[in-house]
Amino acid sequence: MSVQTRPAQSIRRITTRDIRRLKAEGRRLAMLTAYDSTMAALVERGGVDLILVGDSVGNTMLGHSSTIPVTMDAMVHHTQAVVRSTQRALVVLDLPFGTCTDPDTALRHSIRALQEAGAQAVKLEGDETAAPIVRRLTSQGIPVMAHIGLQPQLVHQLGGYPRFGKAPGQAEWLMRSALALQEAGAFAVVLECVDDAVAARITRELAIPTIGIGSGRDCDGQVLVINDLVGLSLSPPPSFAKPRAQVASIIEQCVREFVAETQATAAGAESQRQESPGHA
Ligand code: KIV
Repeated sequence: MSVQTRPAQSIRRITTRDIRRLKAEGRRLAMLTAYDSTMAALVERGGVDLILVGDSVGNTMLGHSSTIPVTMDAMVHHTQAVVRSTQRALVVLDLPFGTCTDPDTALRHSIRALQEAGAQAVKLEGDETAAPIVRRLTSQGIPVMAHIGLQPQLVHQLGGYPRFGKAPGQAEWLMRSALALQEAGAFAVVLECVDDAVAARITRELAIPTIGIGSGRDCDGQVLVINDLVGLSLSPPPSFAKPRAQVASIIEQCVREFVAETQATAAGAESQRQESPGHA
């Protein structure tokens, strides 16, 4: 007797075409970072559309004070873990410092991102001057998320992490860059620490979605570093991130209780041994 089995429901990943369609339909996009399998699975269960394996892994997981030391090998390693435990969210690998010096170098690293790491897209920091790189990648079938405004990989040049958009000429430069990157084929653009009004204007002007971080409420989507969302950090979060929990203190408290229980048990066992007759 043959047993009728229902075909397993296939869950398909969100694609870059879906992302563009969602903007056209007026649906906001939610993106969070993740760097390991457990967190990625939880973030996906929570319903995000996109998971960014950010080079912020340098600060959040690897103990660096900036994203500069993060290597492509590290990005591949963390992205593989994220891809393994997710089925639906679009996974974006953040190209780290030094991988986008020219179109061919960026292409070589982006091929690794898709082939070896299993990402569905790459993100790269860069203004209008990065348009030829975006064009080269997209011409080879590699979806690109652009990233303008504050580019954390420029920290040594910027001398910190300033906001963008208010200084003379900056609003025009940001708009020009967003349009050039869209024209080069980017499927979305991250606006980091961009003046709210400028971010709103860029969002209205572009056909592709803008995803804001510290850039006001009028972007097509929002992205946050997961550690900043859940309070899993030893340093204070950026001012625009409002942690919804204090996971770091929960972990510390669990560890304290474990240590106290372990030490109490050991002390009890020792005193019992000493009291029991025949104990040498
Ligand atoms: O690396 C990262 O986490 C990012 C986001 C802050 C956009 O680039």
